[in-house]
Amino acid sequence: MKIDLISILPEFFDSLNLSLIGRAQQDGLLQIQRHNLRDFTFDKHRSVDSPPAGGGAGMVMKPEPWALALDHVLEQRSDDAAHTPAAEAAGTGAAADAIDSPVLIIPTPSGEVFTQQTAQQLAQRKHLIFAPARFEGIDERFTEWAETRCQVRRLSIGDYVLNGGESAVVVMVEAITRLIPGVLGNEASLEEESHSDGLLEYPVYTKPAQWRGQEIPEVLLSGNHAKIQAWRRSQAEERTQRIRPDLWQKHQSC
Ligand SMILES: C[S@@+](CC[C@H](N)C(=O)[O-])C[C@H]1O[C@@H](n2cnc3c(N)ncnc32)[C@H](O)[C@@H]1O
Repeated sequence: MKIDLISILPEFFDSLNLSLIGRAQQDGLLQIQRHNLRDFTFDKHRSVDSPPAGGGAGMVMKPEPWALALDHVLEQRSDDAAHTPAAEAAGTGAAADAIDSPVLIIPTPSGEVFTQQTAQQLAQRKHLIFAPARFEGIDERFTEWAETRCQVRRLSIGDYVLNGGESAVVVMVEAITRLIPGVLGNEASLEEESHSDGLLEYPVYTKPAQWRGQEIPEVLLSGNHAKIQAWRRSQAEERTQRIRPDLWQKHQSC
């Protein structure tokens, strides 16, 4: 998978060079390229923001640097003969849905909520481009224009407001890329995780068997695989009902 990150704070993404995602890059499973949005400005101050039309607090990011940066990323793509930008030019339709056509992700608290299902969908794609904003966000006309160039998804990582979209990008990149075959050491660990089947994960334990007066549930030491599976399932169900009744209700109706 190729990931392009466009930001005024590209150094924010240093953490993506660590641990499993860092190794996935070294192993060639993942290629992450950062772009400084200010490289697509032409004034002395390399400015990317301007006061909001209609007045009000804060500043809004100008559309032109974002458009130039997106064009640059898409042009780099078309240098690769395997891609046919003409076919991808329209942001909708079968061409845009093809797994190797790019998806532009604009993090925003006013977007659709990013879930495990979204991560699973995006993990199938070959090229993701992230456009995290700062200030009050990006001039809306950029999104409309970008939709004529590629598929666009406006995604929120939760019902709260961050100072900027970079941390949201790190969250999404981590959730998406760990689903790419080969990125995790042990892929079996993906199977029973929270949210993989609509339930929260059961509680987990390790050695020592006794710790500060607490014991590991006996069934886990029984060696009886079927009993362990049944216990884990009931714990997952109990936990989901108690902590996330919204998920439990959804799970019941499926
Ligand atoms: C200060 S926020 C702007 C909030 C915007 N004025 C609003 O009320 O919707 C700046 C940027 O942080 C990012 N951001 C903030 N909260 C986010 C969230 N929950 N999910 C994804 N991105 C978020 C977005 O890129 C956003 O444009």
